[in-house]
Amino acid sequence: MLRIAPSVLSADFGSLAEAVGEVAPEADWLHVDVMDGHFVPNLTIGPPVVASLRKHSGLFFDCHLMMTNPGDFLESFRHAGADGCTVHVEVGDTSALLAQAKSLGLRAGLAINPETPYEAIEPFLAEADLILCMTVHPGFGGQQFMAEVLPKIARTRAELDRRGLGAELEVDGGIDEDTAGAAVRAGARVLVAGSAIFSADHPWEATRRLRLAGEKALPGGQGDGAK
Ligand code: DX5
Ligand code: ZN
Repeated sequence: MLRIAPSVLSADFGSLAEAVGEVAPEADWLHVDVMDGHFVPNLTIGPPVVASLRKHSGLFFDCHLMMTNPGDFLESFRHAGADGCTVHVEVGDTSALLAQAKSLGLRAGLAINPETPYEAIEPFLAEADLILCMTVHPGFGGQQFMAEVLPKIARTRAELDRRGLGAELEVDGGIDEDTAGAAVRAGARVLVAGSAIFSADHPWEATRRLRLAGEKALPGGQGDGAK
């Protein structure tokens, strides 16, 4: 089972509802990138925009909080209509933040930057509902996929499976038809894509093509290399 999560970061912010409506039939989740200008050198959107989008879409809202103080905003995002919120392991206070997210009824995600070692998330695998491995340095869309993160994805997948843990494993950054296969073969099952989808002529078609590319790499898929 593979989920595709278009990232609205690369959509036209002047017509977000239309952009989301266009990909919705082909998307499983909607990825919403929240940047605070501190944790990452960019500013994007906050709870009011999530609340506005909520009126136009029934998709699962997967909010990626690139913030130094996510705990101050989890409740606002929940009230705005977020379904899941992902905090970064680099900001610390991880157990408390995951517990806070869960207590609000959110799917609690934990993200890890490319340069942060696997060991940083290992203690929290049982507490998180989702692990997000960044395959670019967070902050901007349209960057190149960092293949050096693949061993960390594979190690996370192996440990989740070994311990029978059900956390989703998501990848974010530089995912397109060419890189999706490697991410899936490493064990990712949720693919976030911004520019590959919203910079395409037909975002819904690009979403479908990305799913096909990812599915081929699933165990037993046409291109998994196992046969
Ligand atoms: C980057 C964000 C990503 C971004 C991915 O900091 O977390 O979600 O939208 O964009 P692409 O798919 O263009 O790399
Ligand atoms: Zn993201």
